[in-house]
Amino acid sequence: SQIKEIEFVKSSNRAKDCPRDERPEFAILGRSNVGKSSLINTLVKRKEVALTSKKPGKTQLINHFLVNKSWYIVDLPGYGFATASESERMDWSAFTKGYFLNRETLVAVLLLIDATIPPKRIDIDCANWLGRNNIPMTIVFTKCDKMKGKGRRPEETLGAFQDFMKENYKQHPPWIMTSSVSGLGRDELLLHMSQLRNY
Ligand code: GTP
Ligand code: MG
Repeated sequence: SQIKEIEFVKSSNRAKDCPRDERPEFAILGRSNVGKSSLINTLVKRKEVALTSKKPGKTQLINHFLVNKSWYIVDLPGYGFATASESERMDWSAFTKGYFLNRETLVAVLLLIDATIPPKRIDIDCANWLGRNNIPMTIVFTKCDKMKGKGRRPEETLGAFQDFMKENYKQHPPWIMTSSVSGLGRDELLLHMSQLRNY
């Protein structure tokens, strides 16, 4: 399940422009700054495959990365980018929803949730939207290295999110705790994705 090779293929600004082949893909979704690009870099064990930044809103397009010449990881723009104008936010949701609803090769969405803060309304809305539209998702909790000392423990965020999911879903989506700093959850997530690809 390891990543031996990854190449950037293209950036698209709508689903219609995305690569057209039969290869399965996973989309990385989450709030701006949750650690989407960092997670991709960690999975690949390289520093700068997907550009990361302290400034939110760095990733603006649908970015396709081809892994081992056989499947794609897709880096998406973050939602809830606080300083984006209302109209930009509308654009975001139209274009990303268009991608989710029209991408037949999408195996699952990896929905990233920051484990160091309480679940946000927008994350729950997003999970609900995916659920309502029958888009398979895996919950990936990020920044789990930040649990020590100050702040919230990942288990608390996890618990709150799970309570919500139990109330709203017949089947709780799979979830994995990760850290781009320590590498926690890396192998588990790679294995999980390989299992989803092979069914
Ligand atoms: P956008 O592209 O703007 O939507 O952001 P993003 O979700 O791609 O976030 P990015 O990977 O750029 O990371 C945002 C910030 O969080 C950076 O400063 C990262 O170094 C930090 N970060 C990401 N993952 C982790 C993690 O697992 N642990 C810690 N401690 N920091 C992290
Ligand atoms: Mg990014």
